[in-house]
Amino acid sequence: MAATTSNEVMEQKPHLSTGDVIVVENLWRTYDMGSEQVHALRGVSLNIKHNEYVAIMGPSGSGKSTLMNLIGCLDTPTQGRYWLNDQLVSELNDDELARIRNKEIGFVFQTFNLLARASSLHNVELPLIYNGTPAAARMERAIESLTNVGLADRMHHKPN
Ligand SMILES: Nc1ncnc2c1ncn2[C@@H]1O[C@H](COP(=O)(O)OP(=O)(O)OP(=O)(O)O)[C@@H](O)[C@H]1O
Ligand SMILES: [Mg+2]
Repeated sequence: MAATTSNEVMEQKPHLSTGDVIVVENLWRTYDMGSEQVHALRGVSLNIKHNEYVAIMGPSGSGKSTLMNLIGCLDTPTQGRYWLNDQLVSELNDDELARIRNKEIGFVFQTFNLLARASSLHNVELPLIYNGTPAAARMERAIESLTNVGLADRMHHKPN
């Protein structure tokens, strides 16, 4: 088969309607356990639109966390394709995925994953350090965000 350019791949994108922010097509994730392979996801497809709220439900071990790790760009699929904001992210390497996580998608972990020794202000401004926002601007935005959620009086407190 002839090699496909990334443009041709983009044209094969399965969604037709506009407003899709997440498009997942035939996603597989297989964990290689040495002697056996665990198929955590076997061909998942879904579309999620802008402003749509979606709950992923299923029994323990059915692959919810595995799917969330792929949608959150924390992991890459064994097979299948994933478009986030019209970009084919399933083909990206670790560094490119880190940029997507910084710019395109947020992920609230059940366990928060805050830095225990850093103030709430520093925890909030951290992603802005990685994307190169100047110190004064990121301080301003972090204070504004904490103020918006009623945490202005706690900005110098640590998470605990
Ligand atoms: N890192 C891993 N290595 C090997 N197998 C894994 C790994 N992570 C998950 N699995 C296996 O993949 C399958 C799906 O697991 P996953 O954690 O995605 O399920 P879940 O729906 O999130 O479950 P729960 O409701 O308990 O959180 C399970 O069989 C699990 O044992
Ligand atoms: Mg889980």
